[in-house]
Amino acid sequence: MTTQRDRRQVFGEVAEAYDDVRPGYPAQVLDLIVAYAGRVPAAVVESGAGTGKGTALLRTLGVPLTCVEPDPAMAAVLARRFADDDLVSVVVSRFEDWTPPPGGVELLASAQAWHWVDPAARTGLAAAALAPGGVFAVFGHEFGFADDGLREAMDDVYERVAPEISDRVDRAHHVQPADSFDPDELSGGGLFGDVRMEEVVTVLPYGTSRYLTLLTTFSRHRLLPEPRRAALHRALAEVIDARGGVVEQKLTTVVCLTRRIG
Ligand SMILES: C[S@@+](CC[C@H](N)C(=O)[O-])C[C@H]1O[C@@H](n2cnc3c(N)ncnc32)[C@H](O)[C@@H]1O
Repeated sequence: MTTQRDRRQVFGEVAEAYDDVRPGYPAQVLDLIVAYAGRVPAAVVESGAGTGKGTALLRTLGVPLTCVEPDPAMAAVLARRFADDDLVSVVVSRFEDWTPPPGGVELLASAQAWHWVDPAARTGLAAAALAPGGVFAVFGHEFGFADDGLREAMDDVYERVAPEISDRVDRAHHVQPADSFDPDELSGGGLFGDVRMEEVVTVLPYGTSRYLTLLTTFSRHRLLPEPRRAALHRALAEVIDARGGVVEQKLTTVVCLTRRIG
């Protein structure tokens, strides 16, 4: 049986491809964070930094940034990317095992990665990482489609070839859910308040081959048995090619903001 731990290790197997094809985050996301915080934070911690897609955005704040990333292969790409950058430090660790600096930081961020942290512990850990009044920002993309016709045709393929990850059964395969948290999970414990949800929409074109590479970076695709994944990707390629060879990926970047009050 596949465990949560197995799933979170799948990214390292495709670290370079992940870095190549996964979309970064729009500048508006940072504008929303800074506007919510009311100022540029003095220091930032990022949980689940991966190869640095969210890091690149957070780095534009120009303040010290600590990236916590447990997967050695992902962390290696991240460390290489920021090798000459004195403001960025990489810690190879799960967020659960990382010790925050005394007094905490003013901003904790997590891009498409908060759902990997132990649900029973993560709210307390987030609060412990933050200074009083510090801001917690979780953001991530929902991968949708600009063309409903293409989406329908692709849904037919999933249903036929890989029904266990079919969108009609479970909306989390090629339409990845954005990383988000349940506001009640945070505010329920009395540690966080003032939860705000924002969205930024962008459309990104992917040619067929690049789109298939993107799919190989999604954990649900990685966990399919190889022959079936290959059959699924062949069938999807046929559908995409028959419709011009481009997938207009509609990215809804969901930004969840909250403040430590406890
Ligand atoms: C979907 S990737 C997101 C990477 C990057 N933030 C981005 O936006 O592209 C999820 C990341 O969370 C990391 N991760 C898994 N378990 C974690 C944990 N317990 N603590 C911190 N990060 C974790 C994975 O290794 C992976 O790099």
